[in-house]
Parts: sequence; structure tokens; C-alpha cells
Amino acid sequence: DWTAESFVETTVAELEQQLGTDHVIMALSGGVDSTVAAVLLHHAIGKRLHCFFVDHGLLRKGEYEQVLDSYKNMGLNIKGVNAKELFFSRLAGVSEPEQKRKIIGSSFIDVFDEASKEIQKELPEGAEAKWLGQGTIYPDIIESISVKGPSATIKSHHNVGGLPDYMKLKVVEPLKTLFKDEVRRVGKTLDVDSAILGRHPFPGPGLAIRVLGDITEEKVRILQEADDIYIRNLKESGWYDKVWQAGTIFLPVQSVGVMGDERTYEHVVALRAVGSLDGMTADWIHLPYDLLAKISNEIINHVKGINRVVYDISSKPPATIEWE
Ligand code: XMP
Repeated sequence: DWTAESFVETTVAELEQQLGTDHVIMALSGGVDSTVAAVLLHHAIGKRLHCFFVDHGLLRKGEYEQVLDSYKNMGLNIKGVNAKELFFSRLAGVSEPEQKRKIIGSSFIDVFDEASKEIQKELPEGAEAKWLGQGTIYPDIIESISVKGPSATIKSHHNVGGLPDYMKLKVVEPLKTLFKDEVRRVGKTLDVDSAILGRHPFPGPGLAIRVLGDITEEKVRILQEADDIYIRNLKESGWYDKVWQAGTIFLPVQSVGVMGDERTYEHVVALRAVGSLDGMTADWIHLPYDLLAKISNEIINHVKGINRVVYDISSKPPATIEWE
């Protein structure tokens, strides 16, 4: 029988065996998977695990600071890397979803390369980081196989594979046989912060694929404000934990509204909440009308630039969870 305790015990022992006295480099995302993978590695090799957390400017409101703090509290050897400008400048004027993913993937590799050079420089005399830690879980592998299959590309999930050869790092993926619920159970056994364990999945390209069309800092800021209101209300009403994933999408249209005696012509956001077991199929969630009304009012009254809120009632398939 699979238990989280025995998984931790065997995995830590295997990692100790596999890694010996080697150093491992790992980029963390703030999500459940990379965090739990890092904590397992930390148990096995301690400070020889060198982590960093990149701010690409496309995270949720306040998330970079919160997550970095909780990583530090967990005792991880972690550095924050501010790369906002690089990402925004490379994404400027780009609207095509796969192009955005490619730019983010390659910028991420550039940032990774830079950060890992810094880490290598700081290692003790003669030591070398030969390993790359990753939080890949079983469904990531399945989905990336199906993406590569003959039946046309769906989406290129940049967190699987795709590292340039020159990095020459061997990959260590302690969670690659697990499903999400098992990862959460492992995290609980390891005392990982419940705020991180209960966090909804969040795509690697972040809000870049939730701003439909071209990305500007202003659109991202508006989206972050609206999304913050949505997520806070889900938490306060107890719905956050009943939902697999929720998010706000900034639509590339403007619509007419009225404020006082004036016509407005402002942006529209869509709210999405889905139930799922593994992200492969998903049903939209029947949030109570009263809650939707409260969220919509709060967003329209507080977020300048938005005058309309809609709710996405599509399931996957044939829709996907994200809009891009
Ligand atoms: P879709 O939109 O394909 O999403 O139904 C399924 C799950 O995958 C996440 N997702 C991504 N994750 N990079 C990621 O790391 C991506 O490019 C990406 N696209 C979608 C999505 O948030 C959902 O959890």
C-alpha cells in the first residue's frame, strides 16, 4: 500500500544514494510540485540544494514576496531573481499564445543559465553542481507525450524537458511517479506550509497566458487587482478549497458601460473556476450567484479600467482550462 510516509522514507534514501555529495540546482515556481520536490531534496542533501525563484512579473499580486518568505522560513537555500524587465521587454507586442510560451521558456532558460553560473561560482573549491532538480509529476509526463503526438500540438508545456545541451545537467525528478493529490499528501508529511500545499495549479507562463493578446504591464496590473479580489472572495467564502483551479482572464475586447451620466468603454475580465482530478478533463464550477454578484461588484467598483465581468461556463474538453 502506498503511503506518504513510506514514499518520503524511500525517496530520501534513494536521493542520498543517487546524489552522494553532489550539488543540485533547482528553480522553484511557488507551486506545490516544485516546493515538495525541493523539500524532499533538502531532506536528502540539505544546503547542497541551491534553489532560486524567478519573478517574471507575471505572478499573482503579492505572490513573489509571500512565496520567497515562506521558502526562507522553510530553511531552503533560496535566492530571489528579479527578471521582470527582461520578460516584459521580450514579450512586448507578441499576441500569439505559443509564441508567448516560447519566449517565456527561452527567457527562463537564459535567467536560469545566469543564476546557475552565479551558484557555480559560489560553490566550495572543486565542487560542481551536476544536477538539475525538477518538480515534474506524472500527469506532466503524460500530457507532454500527448502534446508531441501526431494528433496536432495542443500546448507546449515548457516545464518538461527542453533544456539546452550546453547546460549538461543531469535531471533529478523525485515526484515523477505521483499524482497531484499524492504530492499534497507527501508535502503534508514533510510539514510544508499549508498555504503552499493548498494552492491551485498555476501555469509556468503565469498571467502571460491570461492576458489574451499582447501583454503590457498595465494590463497585467489590472488583471492582478481583479484576480486578487476573485481569489480572496473564494477563500473567504470557503470555495477556494473546493475548486481545483481558479483564475481571471483579461479579454482583448472593450465594452460599453455607464457610470453616472457618462458612457464608459473599458476592459472585460472573465472568471474561471473548474473542478478536476488531474487537469486533463475539467468541469466548470457552479459558484453561487450571490458570490459571483459580490465578486463582480467588487471588481467593477474597485478596479479602474474594468466595467464588465463574465463567468466562463465551459468544460474541458472541448474547452481547455486556460484560454490560451
Ligand atoms: P489546459 O489549459 O491545457 O491546462 O486545460 C491544463 C493545466 O495545465 C496548466 N497549463 C500550463 N502549465 N505551462 C504550465 O506549466 C503552460 O504553458 C501551461 N498551459 C496550461 C493549466 O493552468 C492547467 O492547470
